[in-house]
Amino acid sequence: MEQLDIRAALAGKTYFIRTFGCQMNLHDAERVSGLLDSCGCLEASGPEDADIVVFMTCCVREAADQRLYGQCSSMKSLPTPPGGKRVIAVGGCIAQRDGEGLLTNVDNVDVIFGTHSLTHVSELIARAFLDGTRQVLTPEEGEDAATSMPWHRAVSYHAWVPIMTGCNNFCSYCIVPYVRGREKSRSIEEVVDEVQGLVRAGVREVTLLGQNVNSFGRDRYGSPRFAELLRLVGETGIERIRFTSSHPKDLLPETIDAMAEVPAVMPHLHLAVQSGSSRILKEMNRRYTREQYLDLISRIRDRIPGIALSTDIIVGFPGETEEDFLETLSLAQEVGYAQAFTFIYSRREGTPAARIEDPTPRSVIQDRFDRLVKVIEQTAHDFNQQALGRTIPVLVEGVSKKDQHKLQGKSPKNQTVHAPLPEGWTEQDVVGRIVDVKVDTARTWYLSGSVVGEPR
Ligand code: SAM
Ligand code: SF4
Ligand code: F3S
Repeated sequence: MEQLDIRAALAGKTYFIRTFGCQMNLHDAERVSGLLDSCGCLEASGPEDADIVVFMTCCVREAADQRLYGQCSSMKSLPTPPGGKRVIAVGGCIAQRDGEGLLTNVDNVDVIFGTHSLTHVSELIARAFLDGTRQVLTPEEGEDAATSMPWHRAVSYHAWVPIMTGCNNFCSYCIVPYVRGREKSRSIEEVVDEVQGLVRAGVREVTLLGQNVNSFGRDRYGSPRFAELLRLVGETGIERIRFTSSHPKDLLPETIDAMAEVPAVMPHLHLAVQSGSSRILKEMNRRYTREQYLDLISRIRDRIPGIALSTDIIVGFPGETEEDFLETLSLAQEVGYAQAFTFIYSRREGTPAARIEDPTPRSVIQDRFDRLVKVIEQTAHDFNQQALGRTIPVLVEGVSKKDQHKLQGKSPKNQTVHAPLPEGWTEQDVVGRIVDVKVDTARTWYLSGSVVGEPR
């Protein structure tokens, strides 16, 4: 189909995108949105106002599948849009995993596009409008979408920058390598150019994205080049650099040095541990032990004192005993995480762990999960106390949802910070600006205080 036909089919149509899952999906949604904008589509405020509804899906845990089926079915009860037809498109990881098979669980889907077919979305949607036929495109591999596609950023001051796609690690519980393919790094020049362009456009913070950014470059250059990338991105003039995720087995000393030495790299590291038990880590195919992880943490802390550490932890991996779990609890206490994303293990068909039988009752796993959450609440609370009395630069995201008179933003250590909007300032005055906040209250999940000086 010619570009002109796609535009003719889509111009003036409204679209709404709902995204589940990780930052990679959030960024892919920005690319889909950019593509639809470039065809003359307009963003709608909700699915009821949209001619096109796109679901960007996640299958990392089972609950996400069920949620998608529910959401797709609920589209049937919406009033028909004025154009007479609403196209429902499903992209992301469930689409990649199930392809046409998705139709057995949801029958009202018009377009299914996989994680390697983003560039074709507008064409598939245009066809669904023109012929009324179902479109399914879920190849195992595809071109690197990031470079060639337009991009609709959700906010002006921050950008997700994918530096690589896919994953080679095959942790035994995880579906991601099967739905995102193997690691594929972008070139250093391309990433740096992109960040330079973002700086010119007024972006102040970038988050470099990959399932394991520490191995960035290995596929393209023969050895990892993440430390070098951090230094080069640091020279673009961007004010804040974050990155996620980091696999502990690949975090090199040179990367810790770059983090310590590049002023724009924020003092926060997300380093998923998954379990504190070396036995379970081996079963998970994580390729580090508890001791190696703790040693890495102490080397990071020596080099970057006060750094905020966050993590992902899975509770209830098949065969996890109370003893294993107590090792996870003690590790969380020892590290003193500022934040942790805690998950109950979810069996994913097709992964090696799905074949392991587990007699542990659900109630036992839930009880362990609740105990872990309590420990994390304590470590997060303790971590935040260190900010009391300090003045910290906060990148403002907007006003607080609960109180329009308070601004909300992020500290360098990724803490959420609230402060009353100073007299005479509006939300527009502060969004995307950096303000200094003197912290007088430190709770488990946020800090608050008052603004000192002017926004910059
Ligand atoms: N690549 C990232 C890393 O290794 O840090 C993680 C990406 S994954 C999208 C995010 C988190 O989901 C993982 O760190 C893990 O804790 C969790 N996760 C993955 N598979 C899971 C499963 N089968 N059940 C429960 N949690 C899972
Ligand atoms: Fe999944 Fe492991 Fe890859 Fe992370 S590193 S995406 S947990 S397989
Ligand atoms: Fe989910 Fe796919 Fe991300 S499975 S967590 S959206 S890579």
